[in-house]
Amino acid sequence: MKNTVVVGAQWGDEGKAKITDLLAQNADVIIRYQGGCNAGHTVVVDNKTFKFHLIPSGILYKNKICIIGPGTVIHPESFEKELNGLIEEGIDVSNLKISPLASITMPYHIEIDGYSESNAGKGKIGTTKKGIGPTYTDKYARIGLKIQDLYSAETLSEKLDIILPLKNKQLEKVYGLEPYSKECITALCEKYAELFKPYVCFEWQDLLREHKKDTILFEGAQGVMLDVDYGTYPFVTSSNPIGGGAATGSGYGPRMIDEVIGVSKAYVTRVGEGPFVTELNDETGDKIREIGHEFGVTTGRPRRCGWFDAVIMKYAVLVGGLTSIALTKIDVFDSFDEIKVCTAYKDTRNGQIYTSYPTDVFIHKYLEPIYETHAGWGVDITKIKEYDKLPENAKKYLERLEELLECPISIISVGPDREQTIIK
Ligand code: IMP
Repeated sequence: MKNTVVVGAQWGDEGKAKITDLLAQNADVIIRYQGGCNAGHTVVVDNKTFKFHLIPSGILYKNKICIIGPGTVIHPESFEKELNGLIEEGIDVSNLKISPLASITMPYHIEIDGYSESNAGKGKIGTTKKGIGPTYTDKYARIGLKIQDLYSAETLSEKLDIILPLKNKQLEKVYGLEPYSKECITALCEKYAELFKPYVCFEWQDLLREHKKDTILFEGAQGVMLDVDYGTYPFVTSSNPIGGGAATGSGYGPRMIDEVIGVSKAYVTRVGEGPFVTELNDETGDKIREIGHEFGVTTGRPRRCGWFDAVIMKYAVLVGGLTSIALTKIDVFDSFDEIKVCTAYKDTRNGQIYTSYPTDVFIHKYLEPIYETHAGWGVDITKIKEYDKLPENAKKYLERLEELLECPISIISVGPDREQTIIK
């Protein structure tokens, strides 16, 4: 296997965890490069379900180095819960490494996220309320805490003297929240230092150099349409899930990346607010949700469901830097007579047709999807392991998607288990 980035190609929840898990078999090092515990990655191995949020699912394999990279944000309490859950299941976590450069989600970040969501009115994003936006805000405002700060009392003290007066003013005056004393934050940081200590990789530069010739898997979270630069801004997360994010968030530069696999469902789902042109608020949407078990791993929220949207996928191929696609959950359509694919949008105000993705999402309420309809295949495909054995209509559907997206489909997933995968 070449060095590969796994990217969500839609609005997250595309089944990246399964594809990452599959590719991790042939990787030596797995690096999660962005996001935090807002992600929810489900992996099924031997009928056992594991739910990951931040720790790379590659940890299920022995002898793989799993790194929580510099581009991530870590909420200590959520990390502790996830880690303990794995330890209780008997998973060996000794190969887990945390980058000293990763950012820390502090309690006030969670409070600000909650406050902002409750008071945003029409601007509500529908975040996971895990403090992701406020943590990245502080990172980019250069007033964030990094894992490495926990291990130098002097650095921490100096930084807190800069950060806390600003933060407290903001907490009190902007959000009407309680301020934090330096003693309180210092005591918390001492606790965090203990928690992370066995995993922090201070020699990360040596580690990355040592593995430069090995196979690296870069694990993304969320998806291209939630990317802070390219997604449905402002209804996005605060990091860069796109393939390029792996170059900034992993510690390895762009020349280490050979392939970018974009994971996409055979339909589209979204959680939280924001535009979604092919959304189905009808029985078909309910049917997809029910058969596809479309409920959030992190928040339990029912996911919004809709038909496959080739407009956003073509965009994802471009800006995500995709070299191929892993198509998941195609088996959800086994009982469908007809399957629709959106090939363009029509502006209901003036009839304008969009085949390229319109980035001003505030006009999306005026867009309606233009569909082409494909005949279903009407048989159970969940046990098929070879492409040639797929029903003709399923193959036709897949070939049409490749044609529309100008990108090959390299992996087809026909069920949640590792075994239920067709490599093309
Ligand atoms: P945040 O990342 O919690 O700030 O949420 C911002 C937006 O991204 C919201 O619409 C969330 O529902 C969405 N989001 C964040 N993480 C995920 C994910 O892992 N899957 C799907 N949507 C996500």
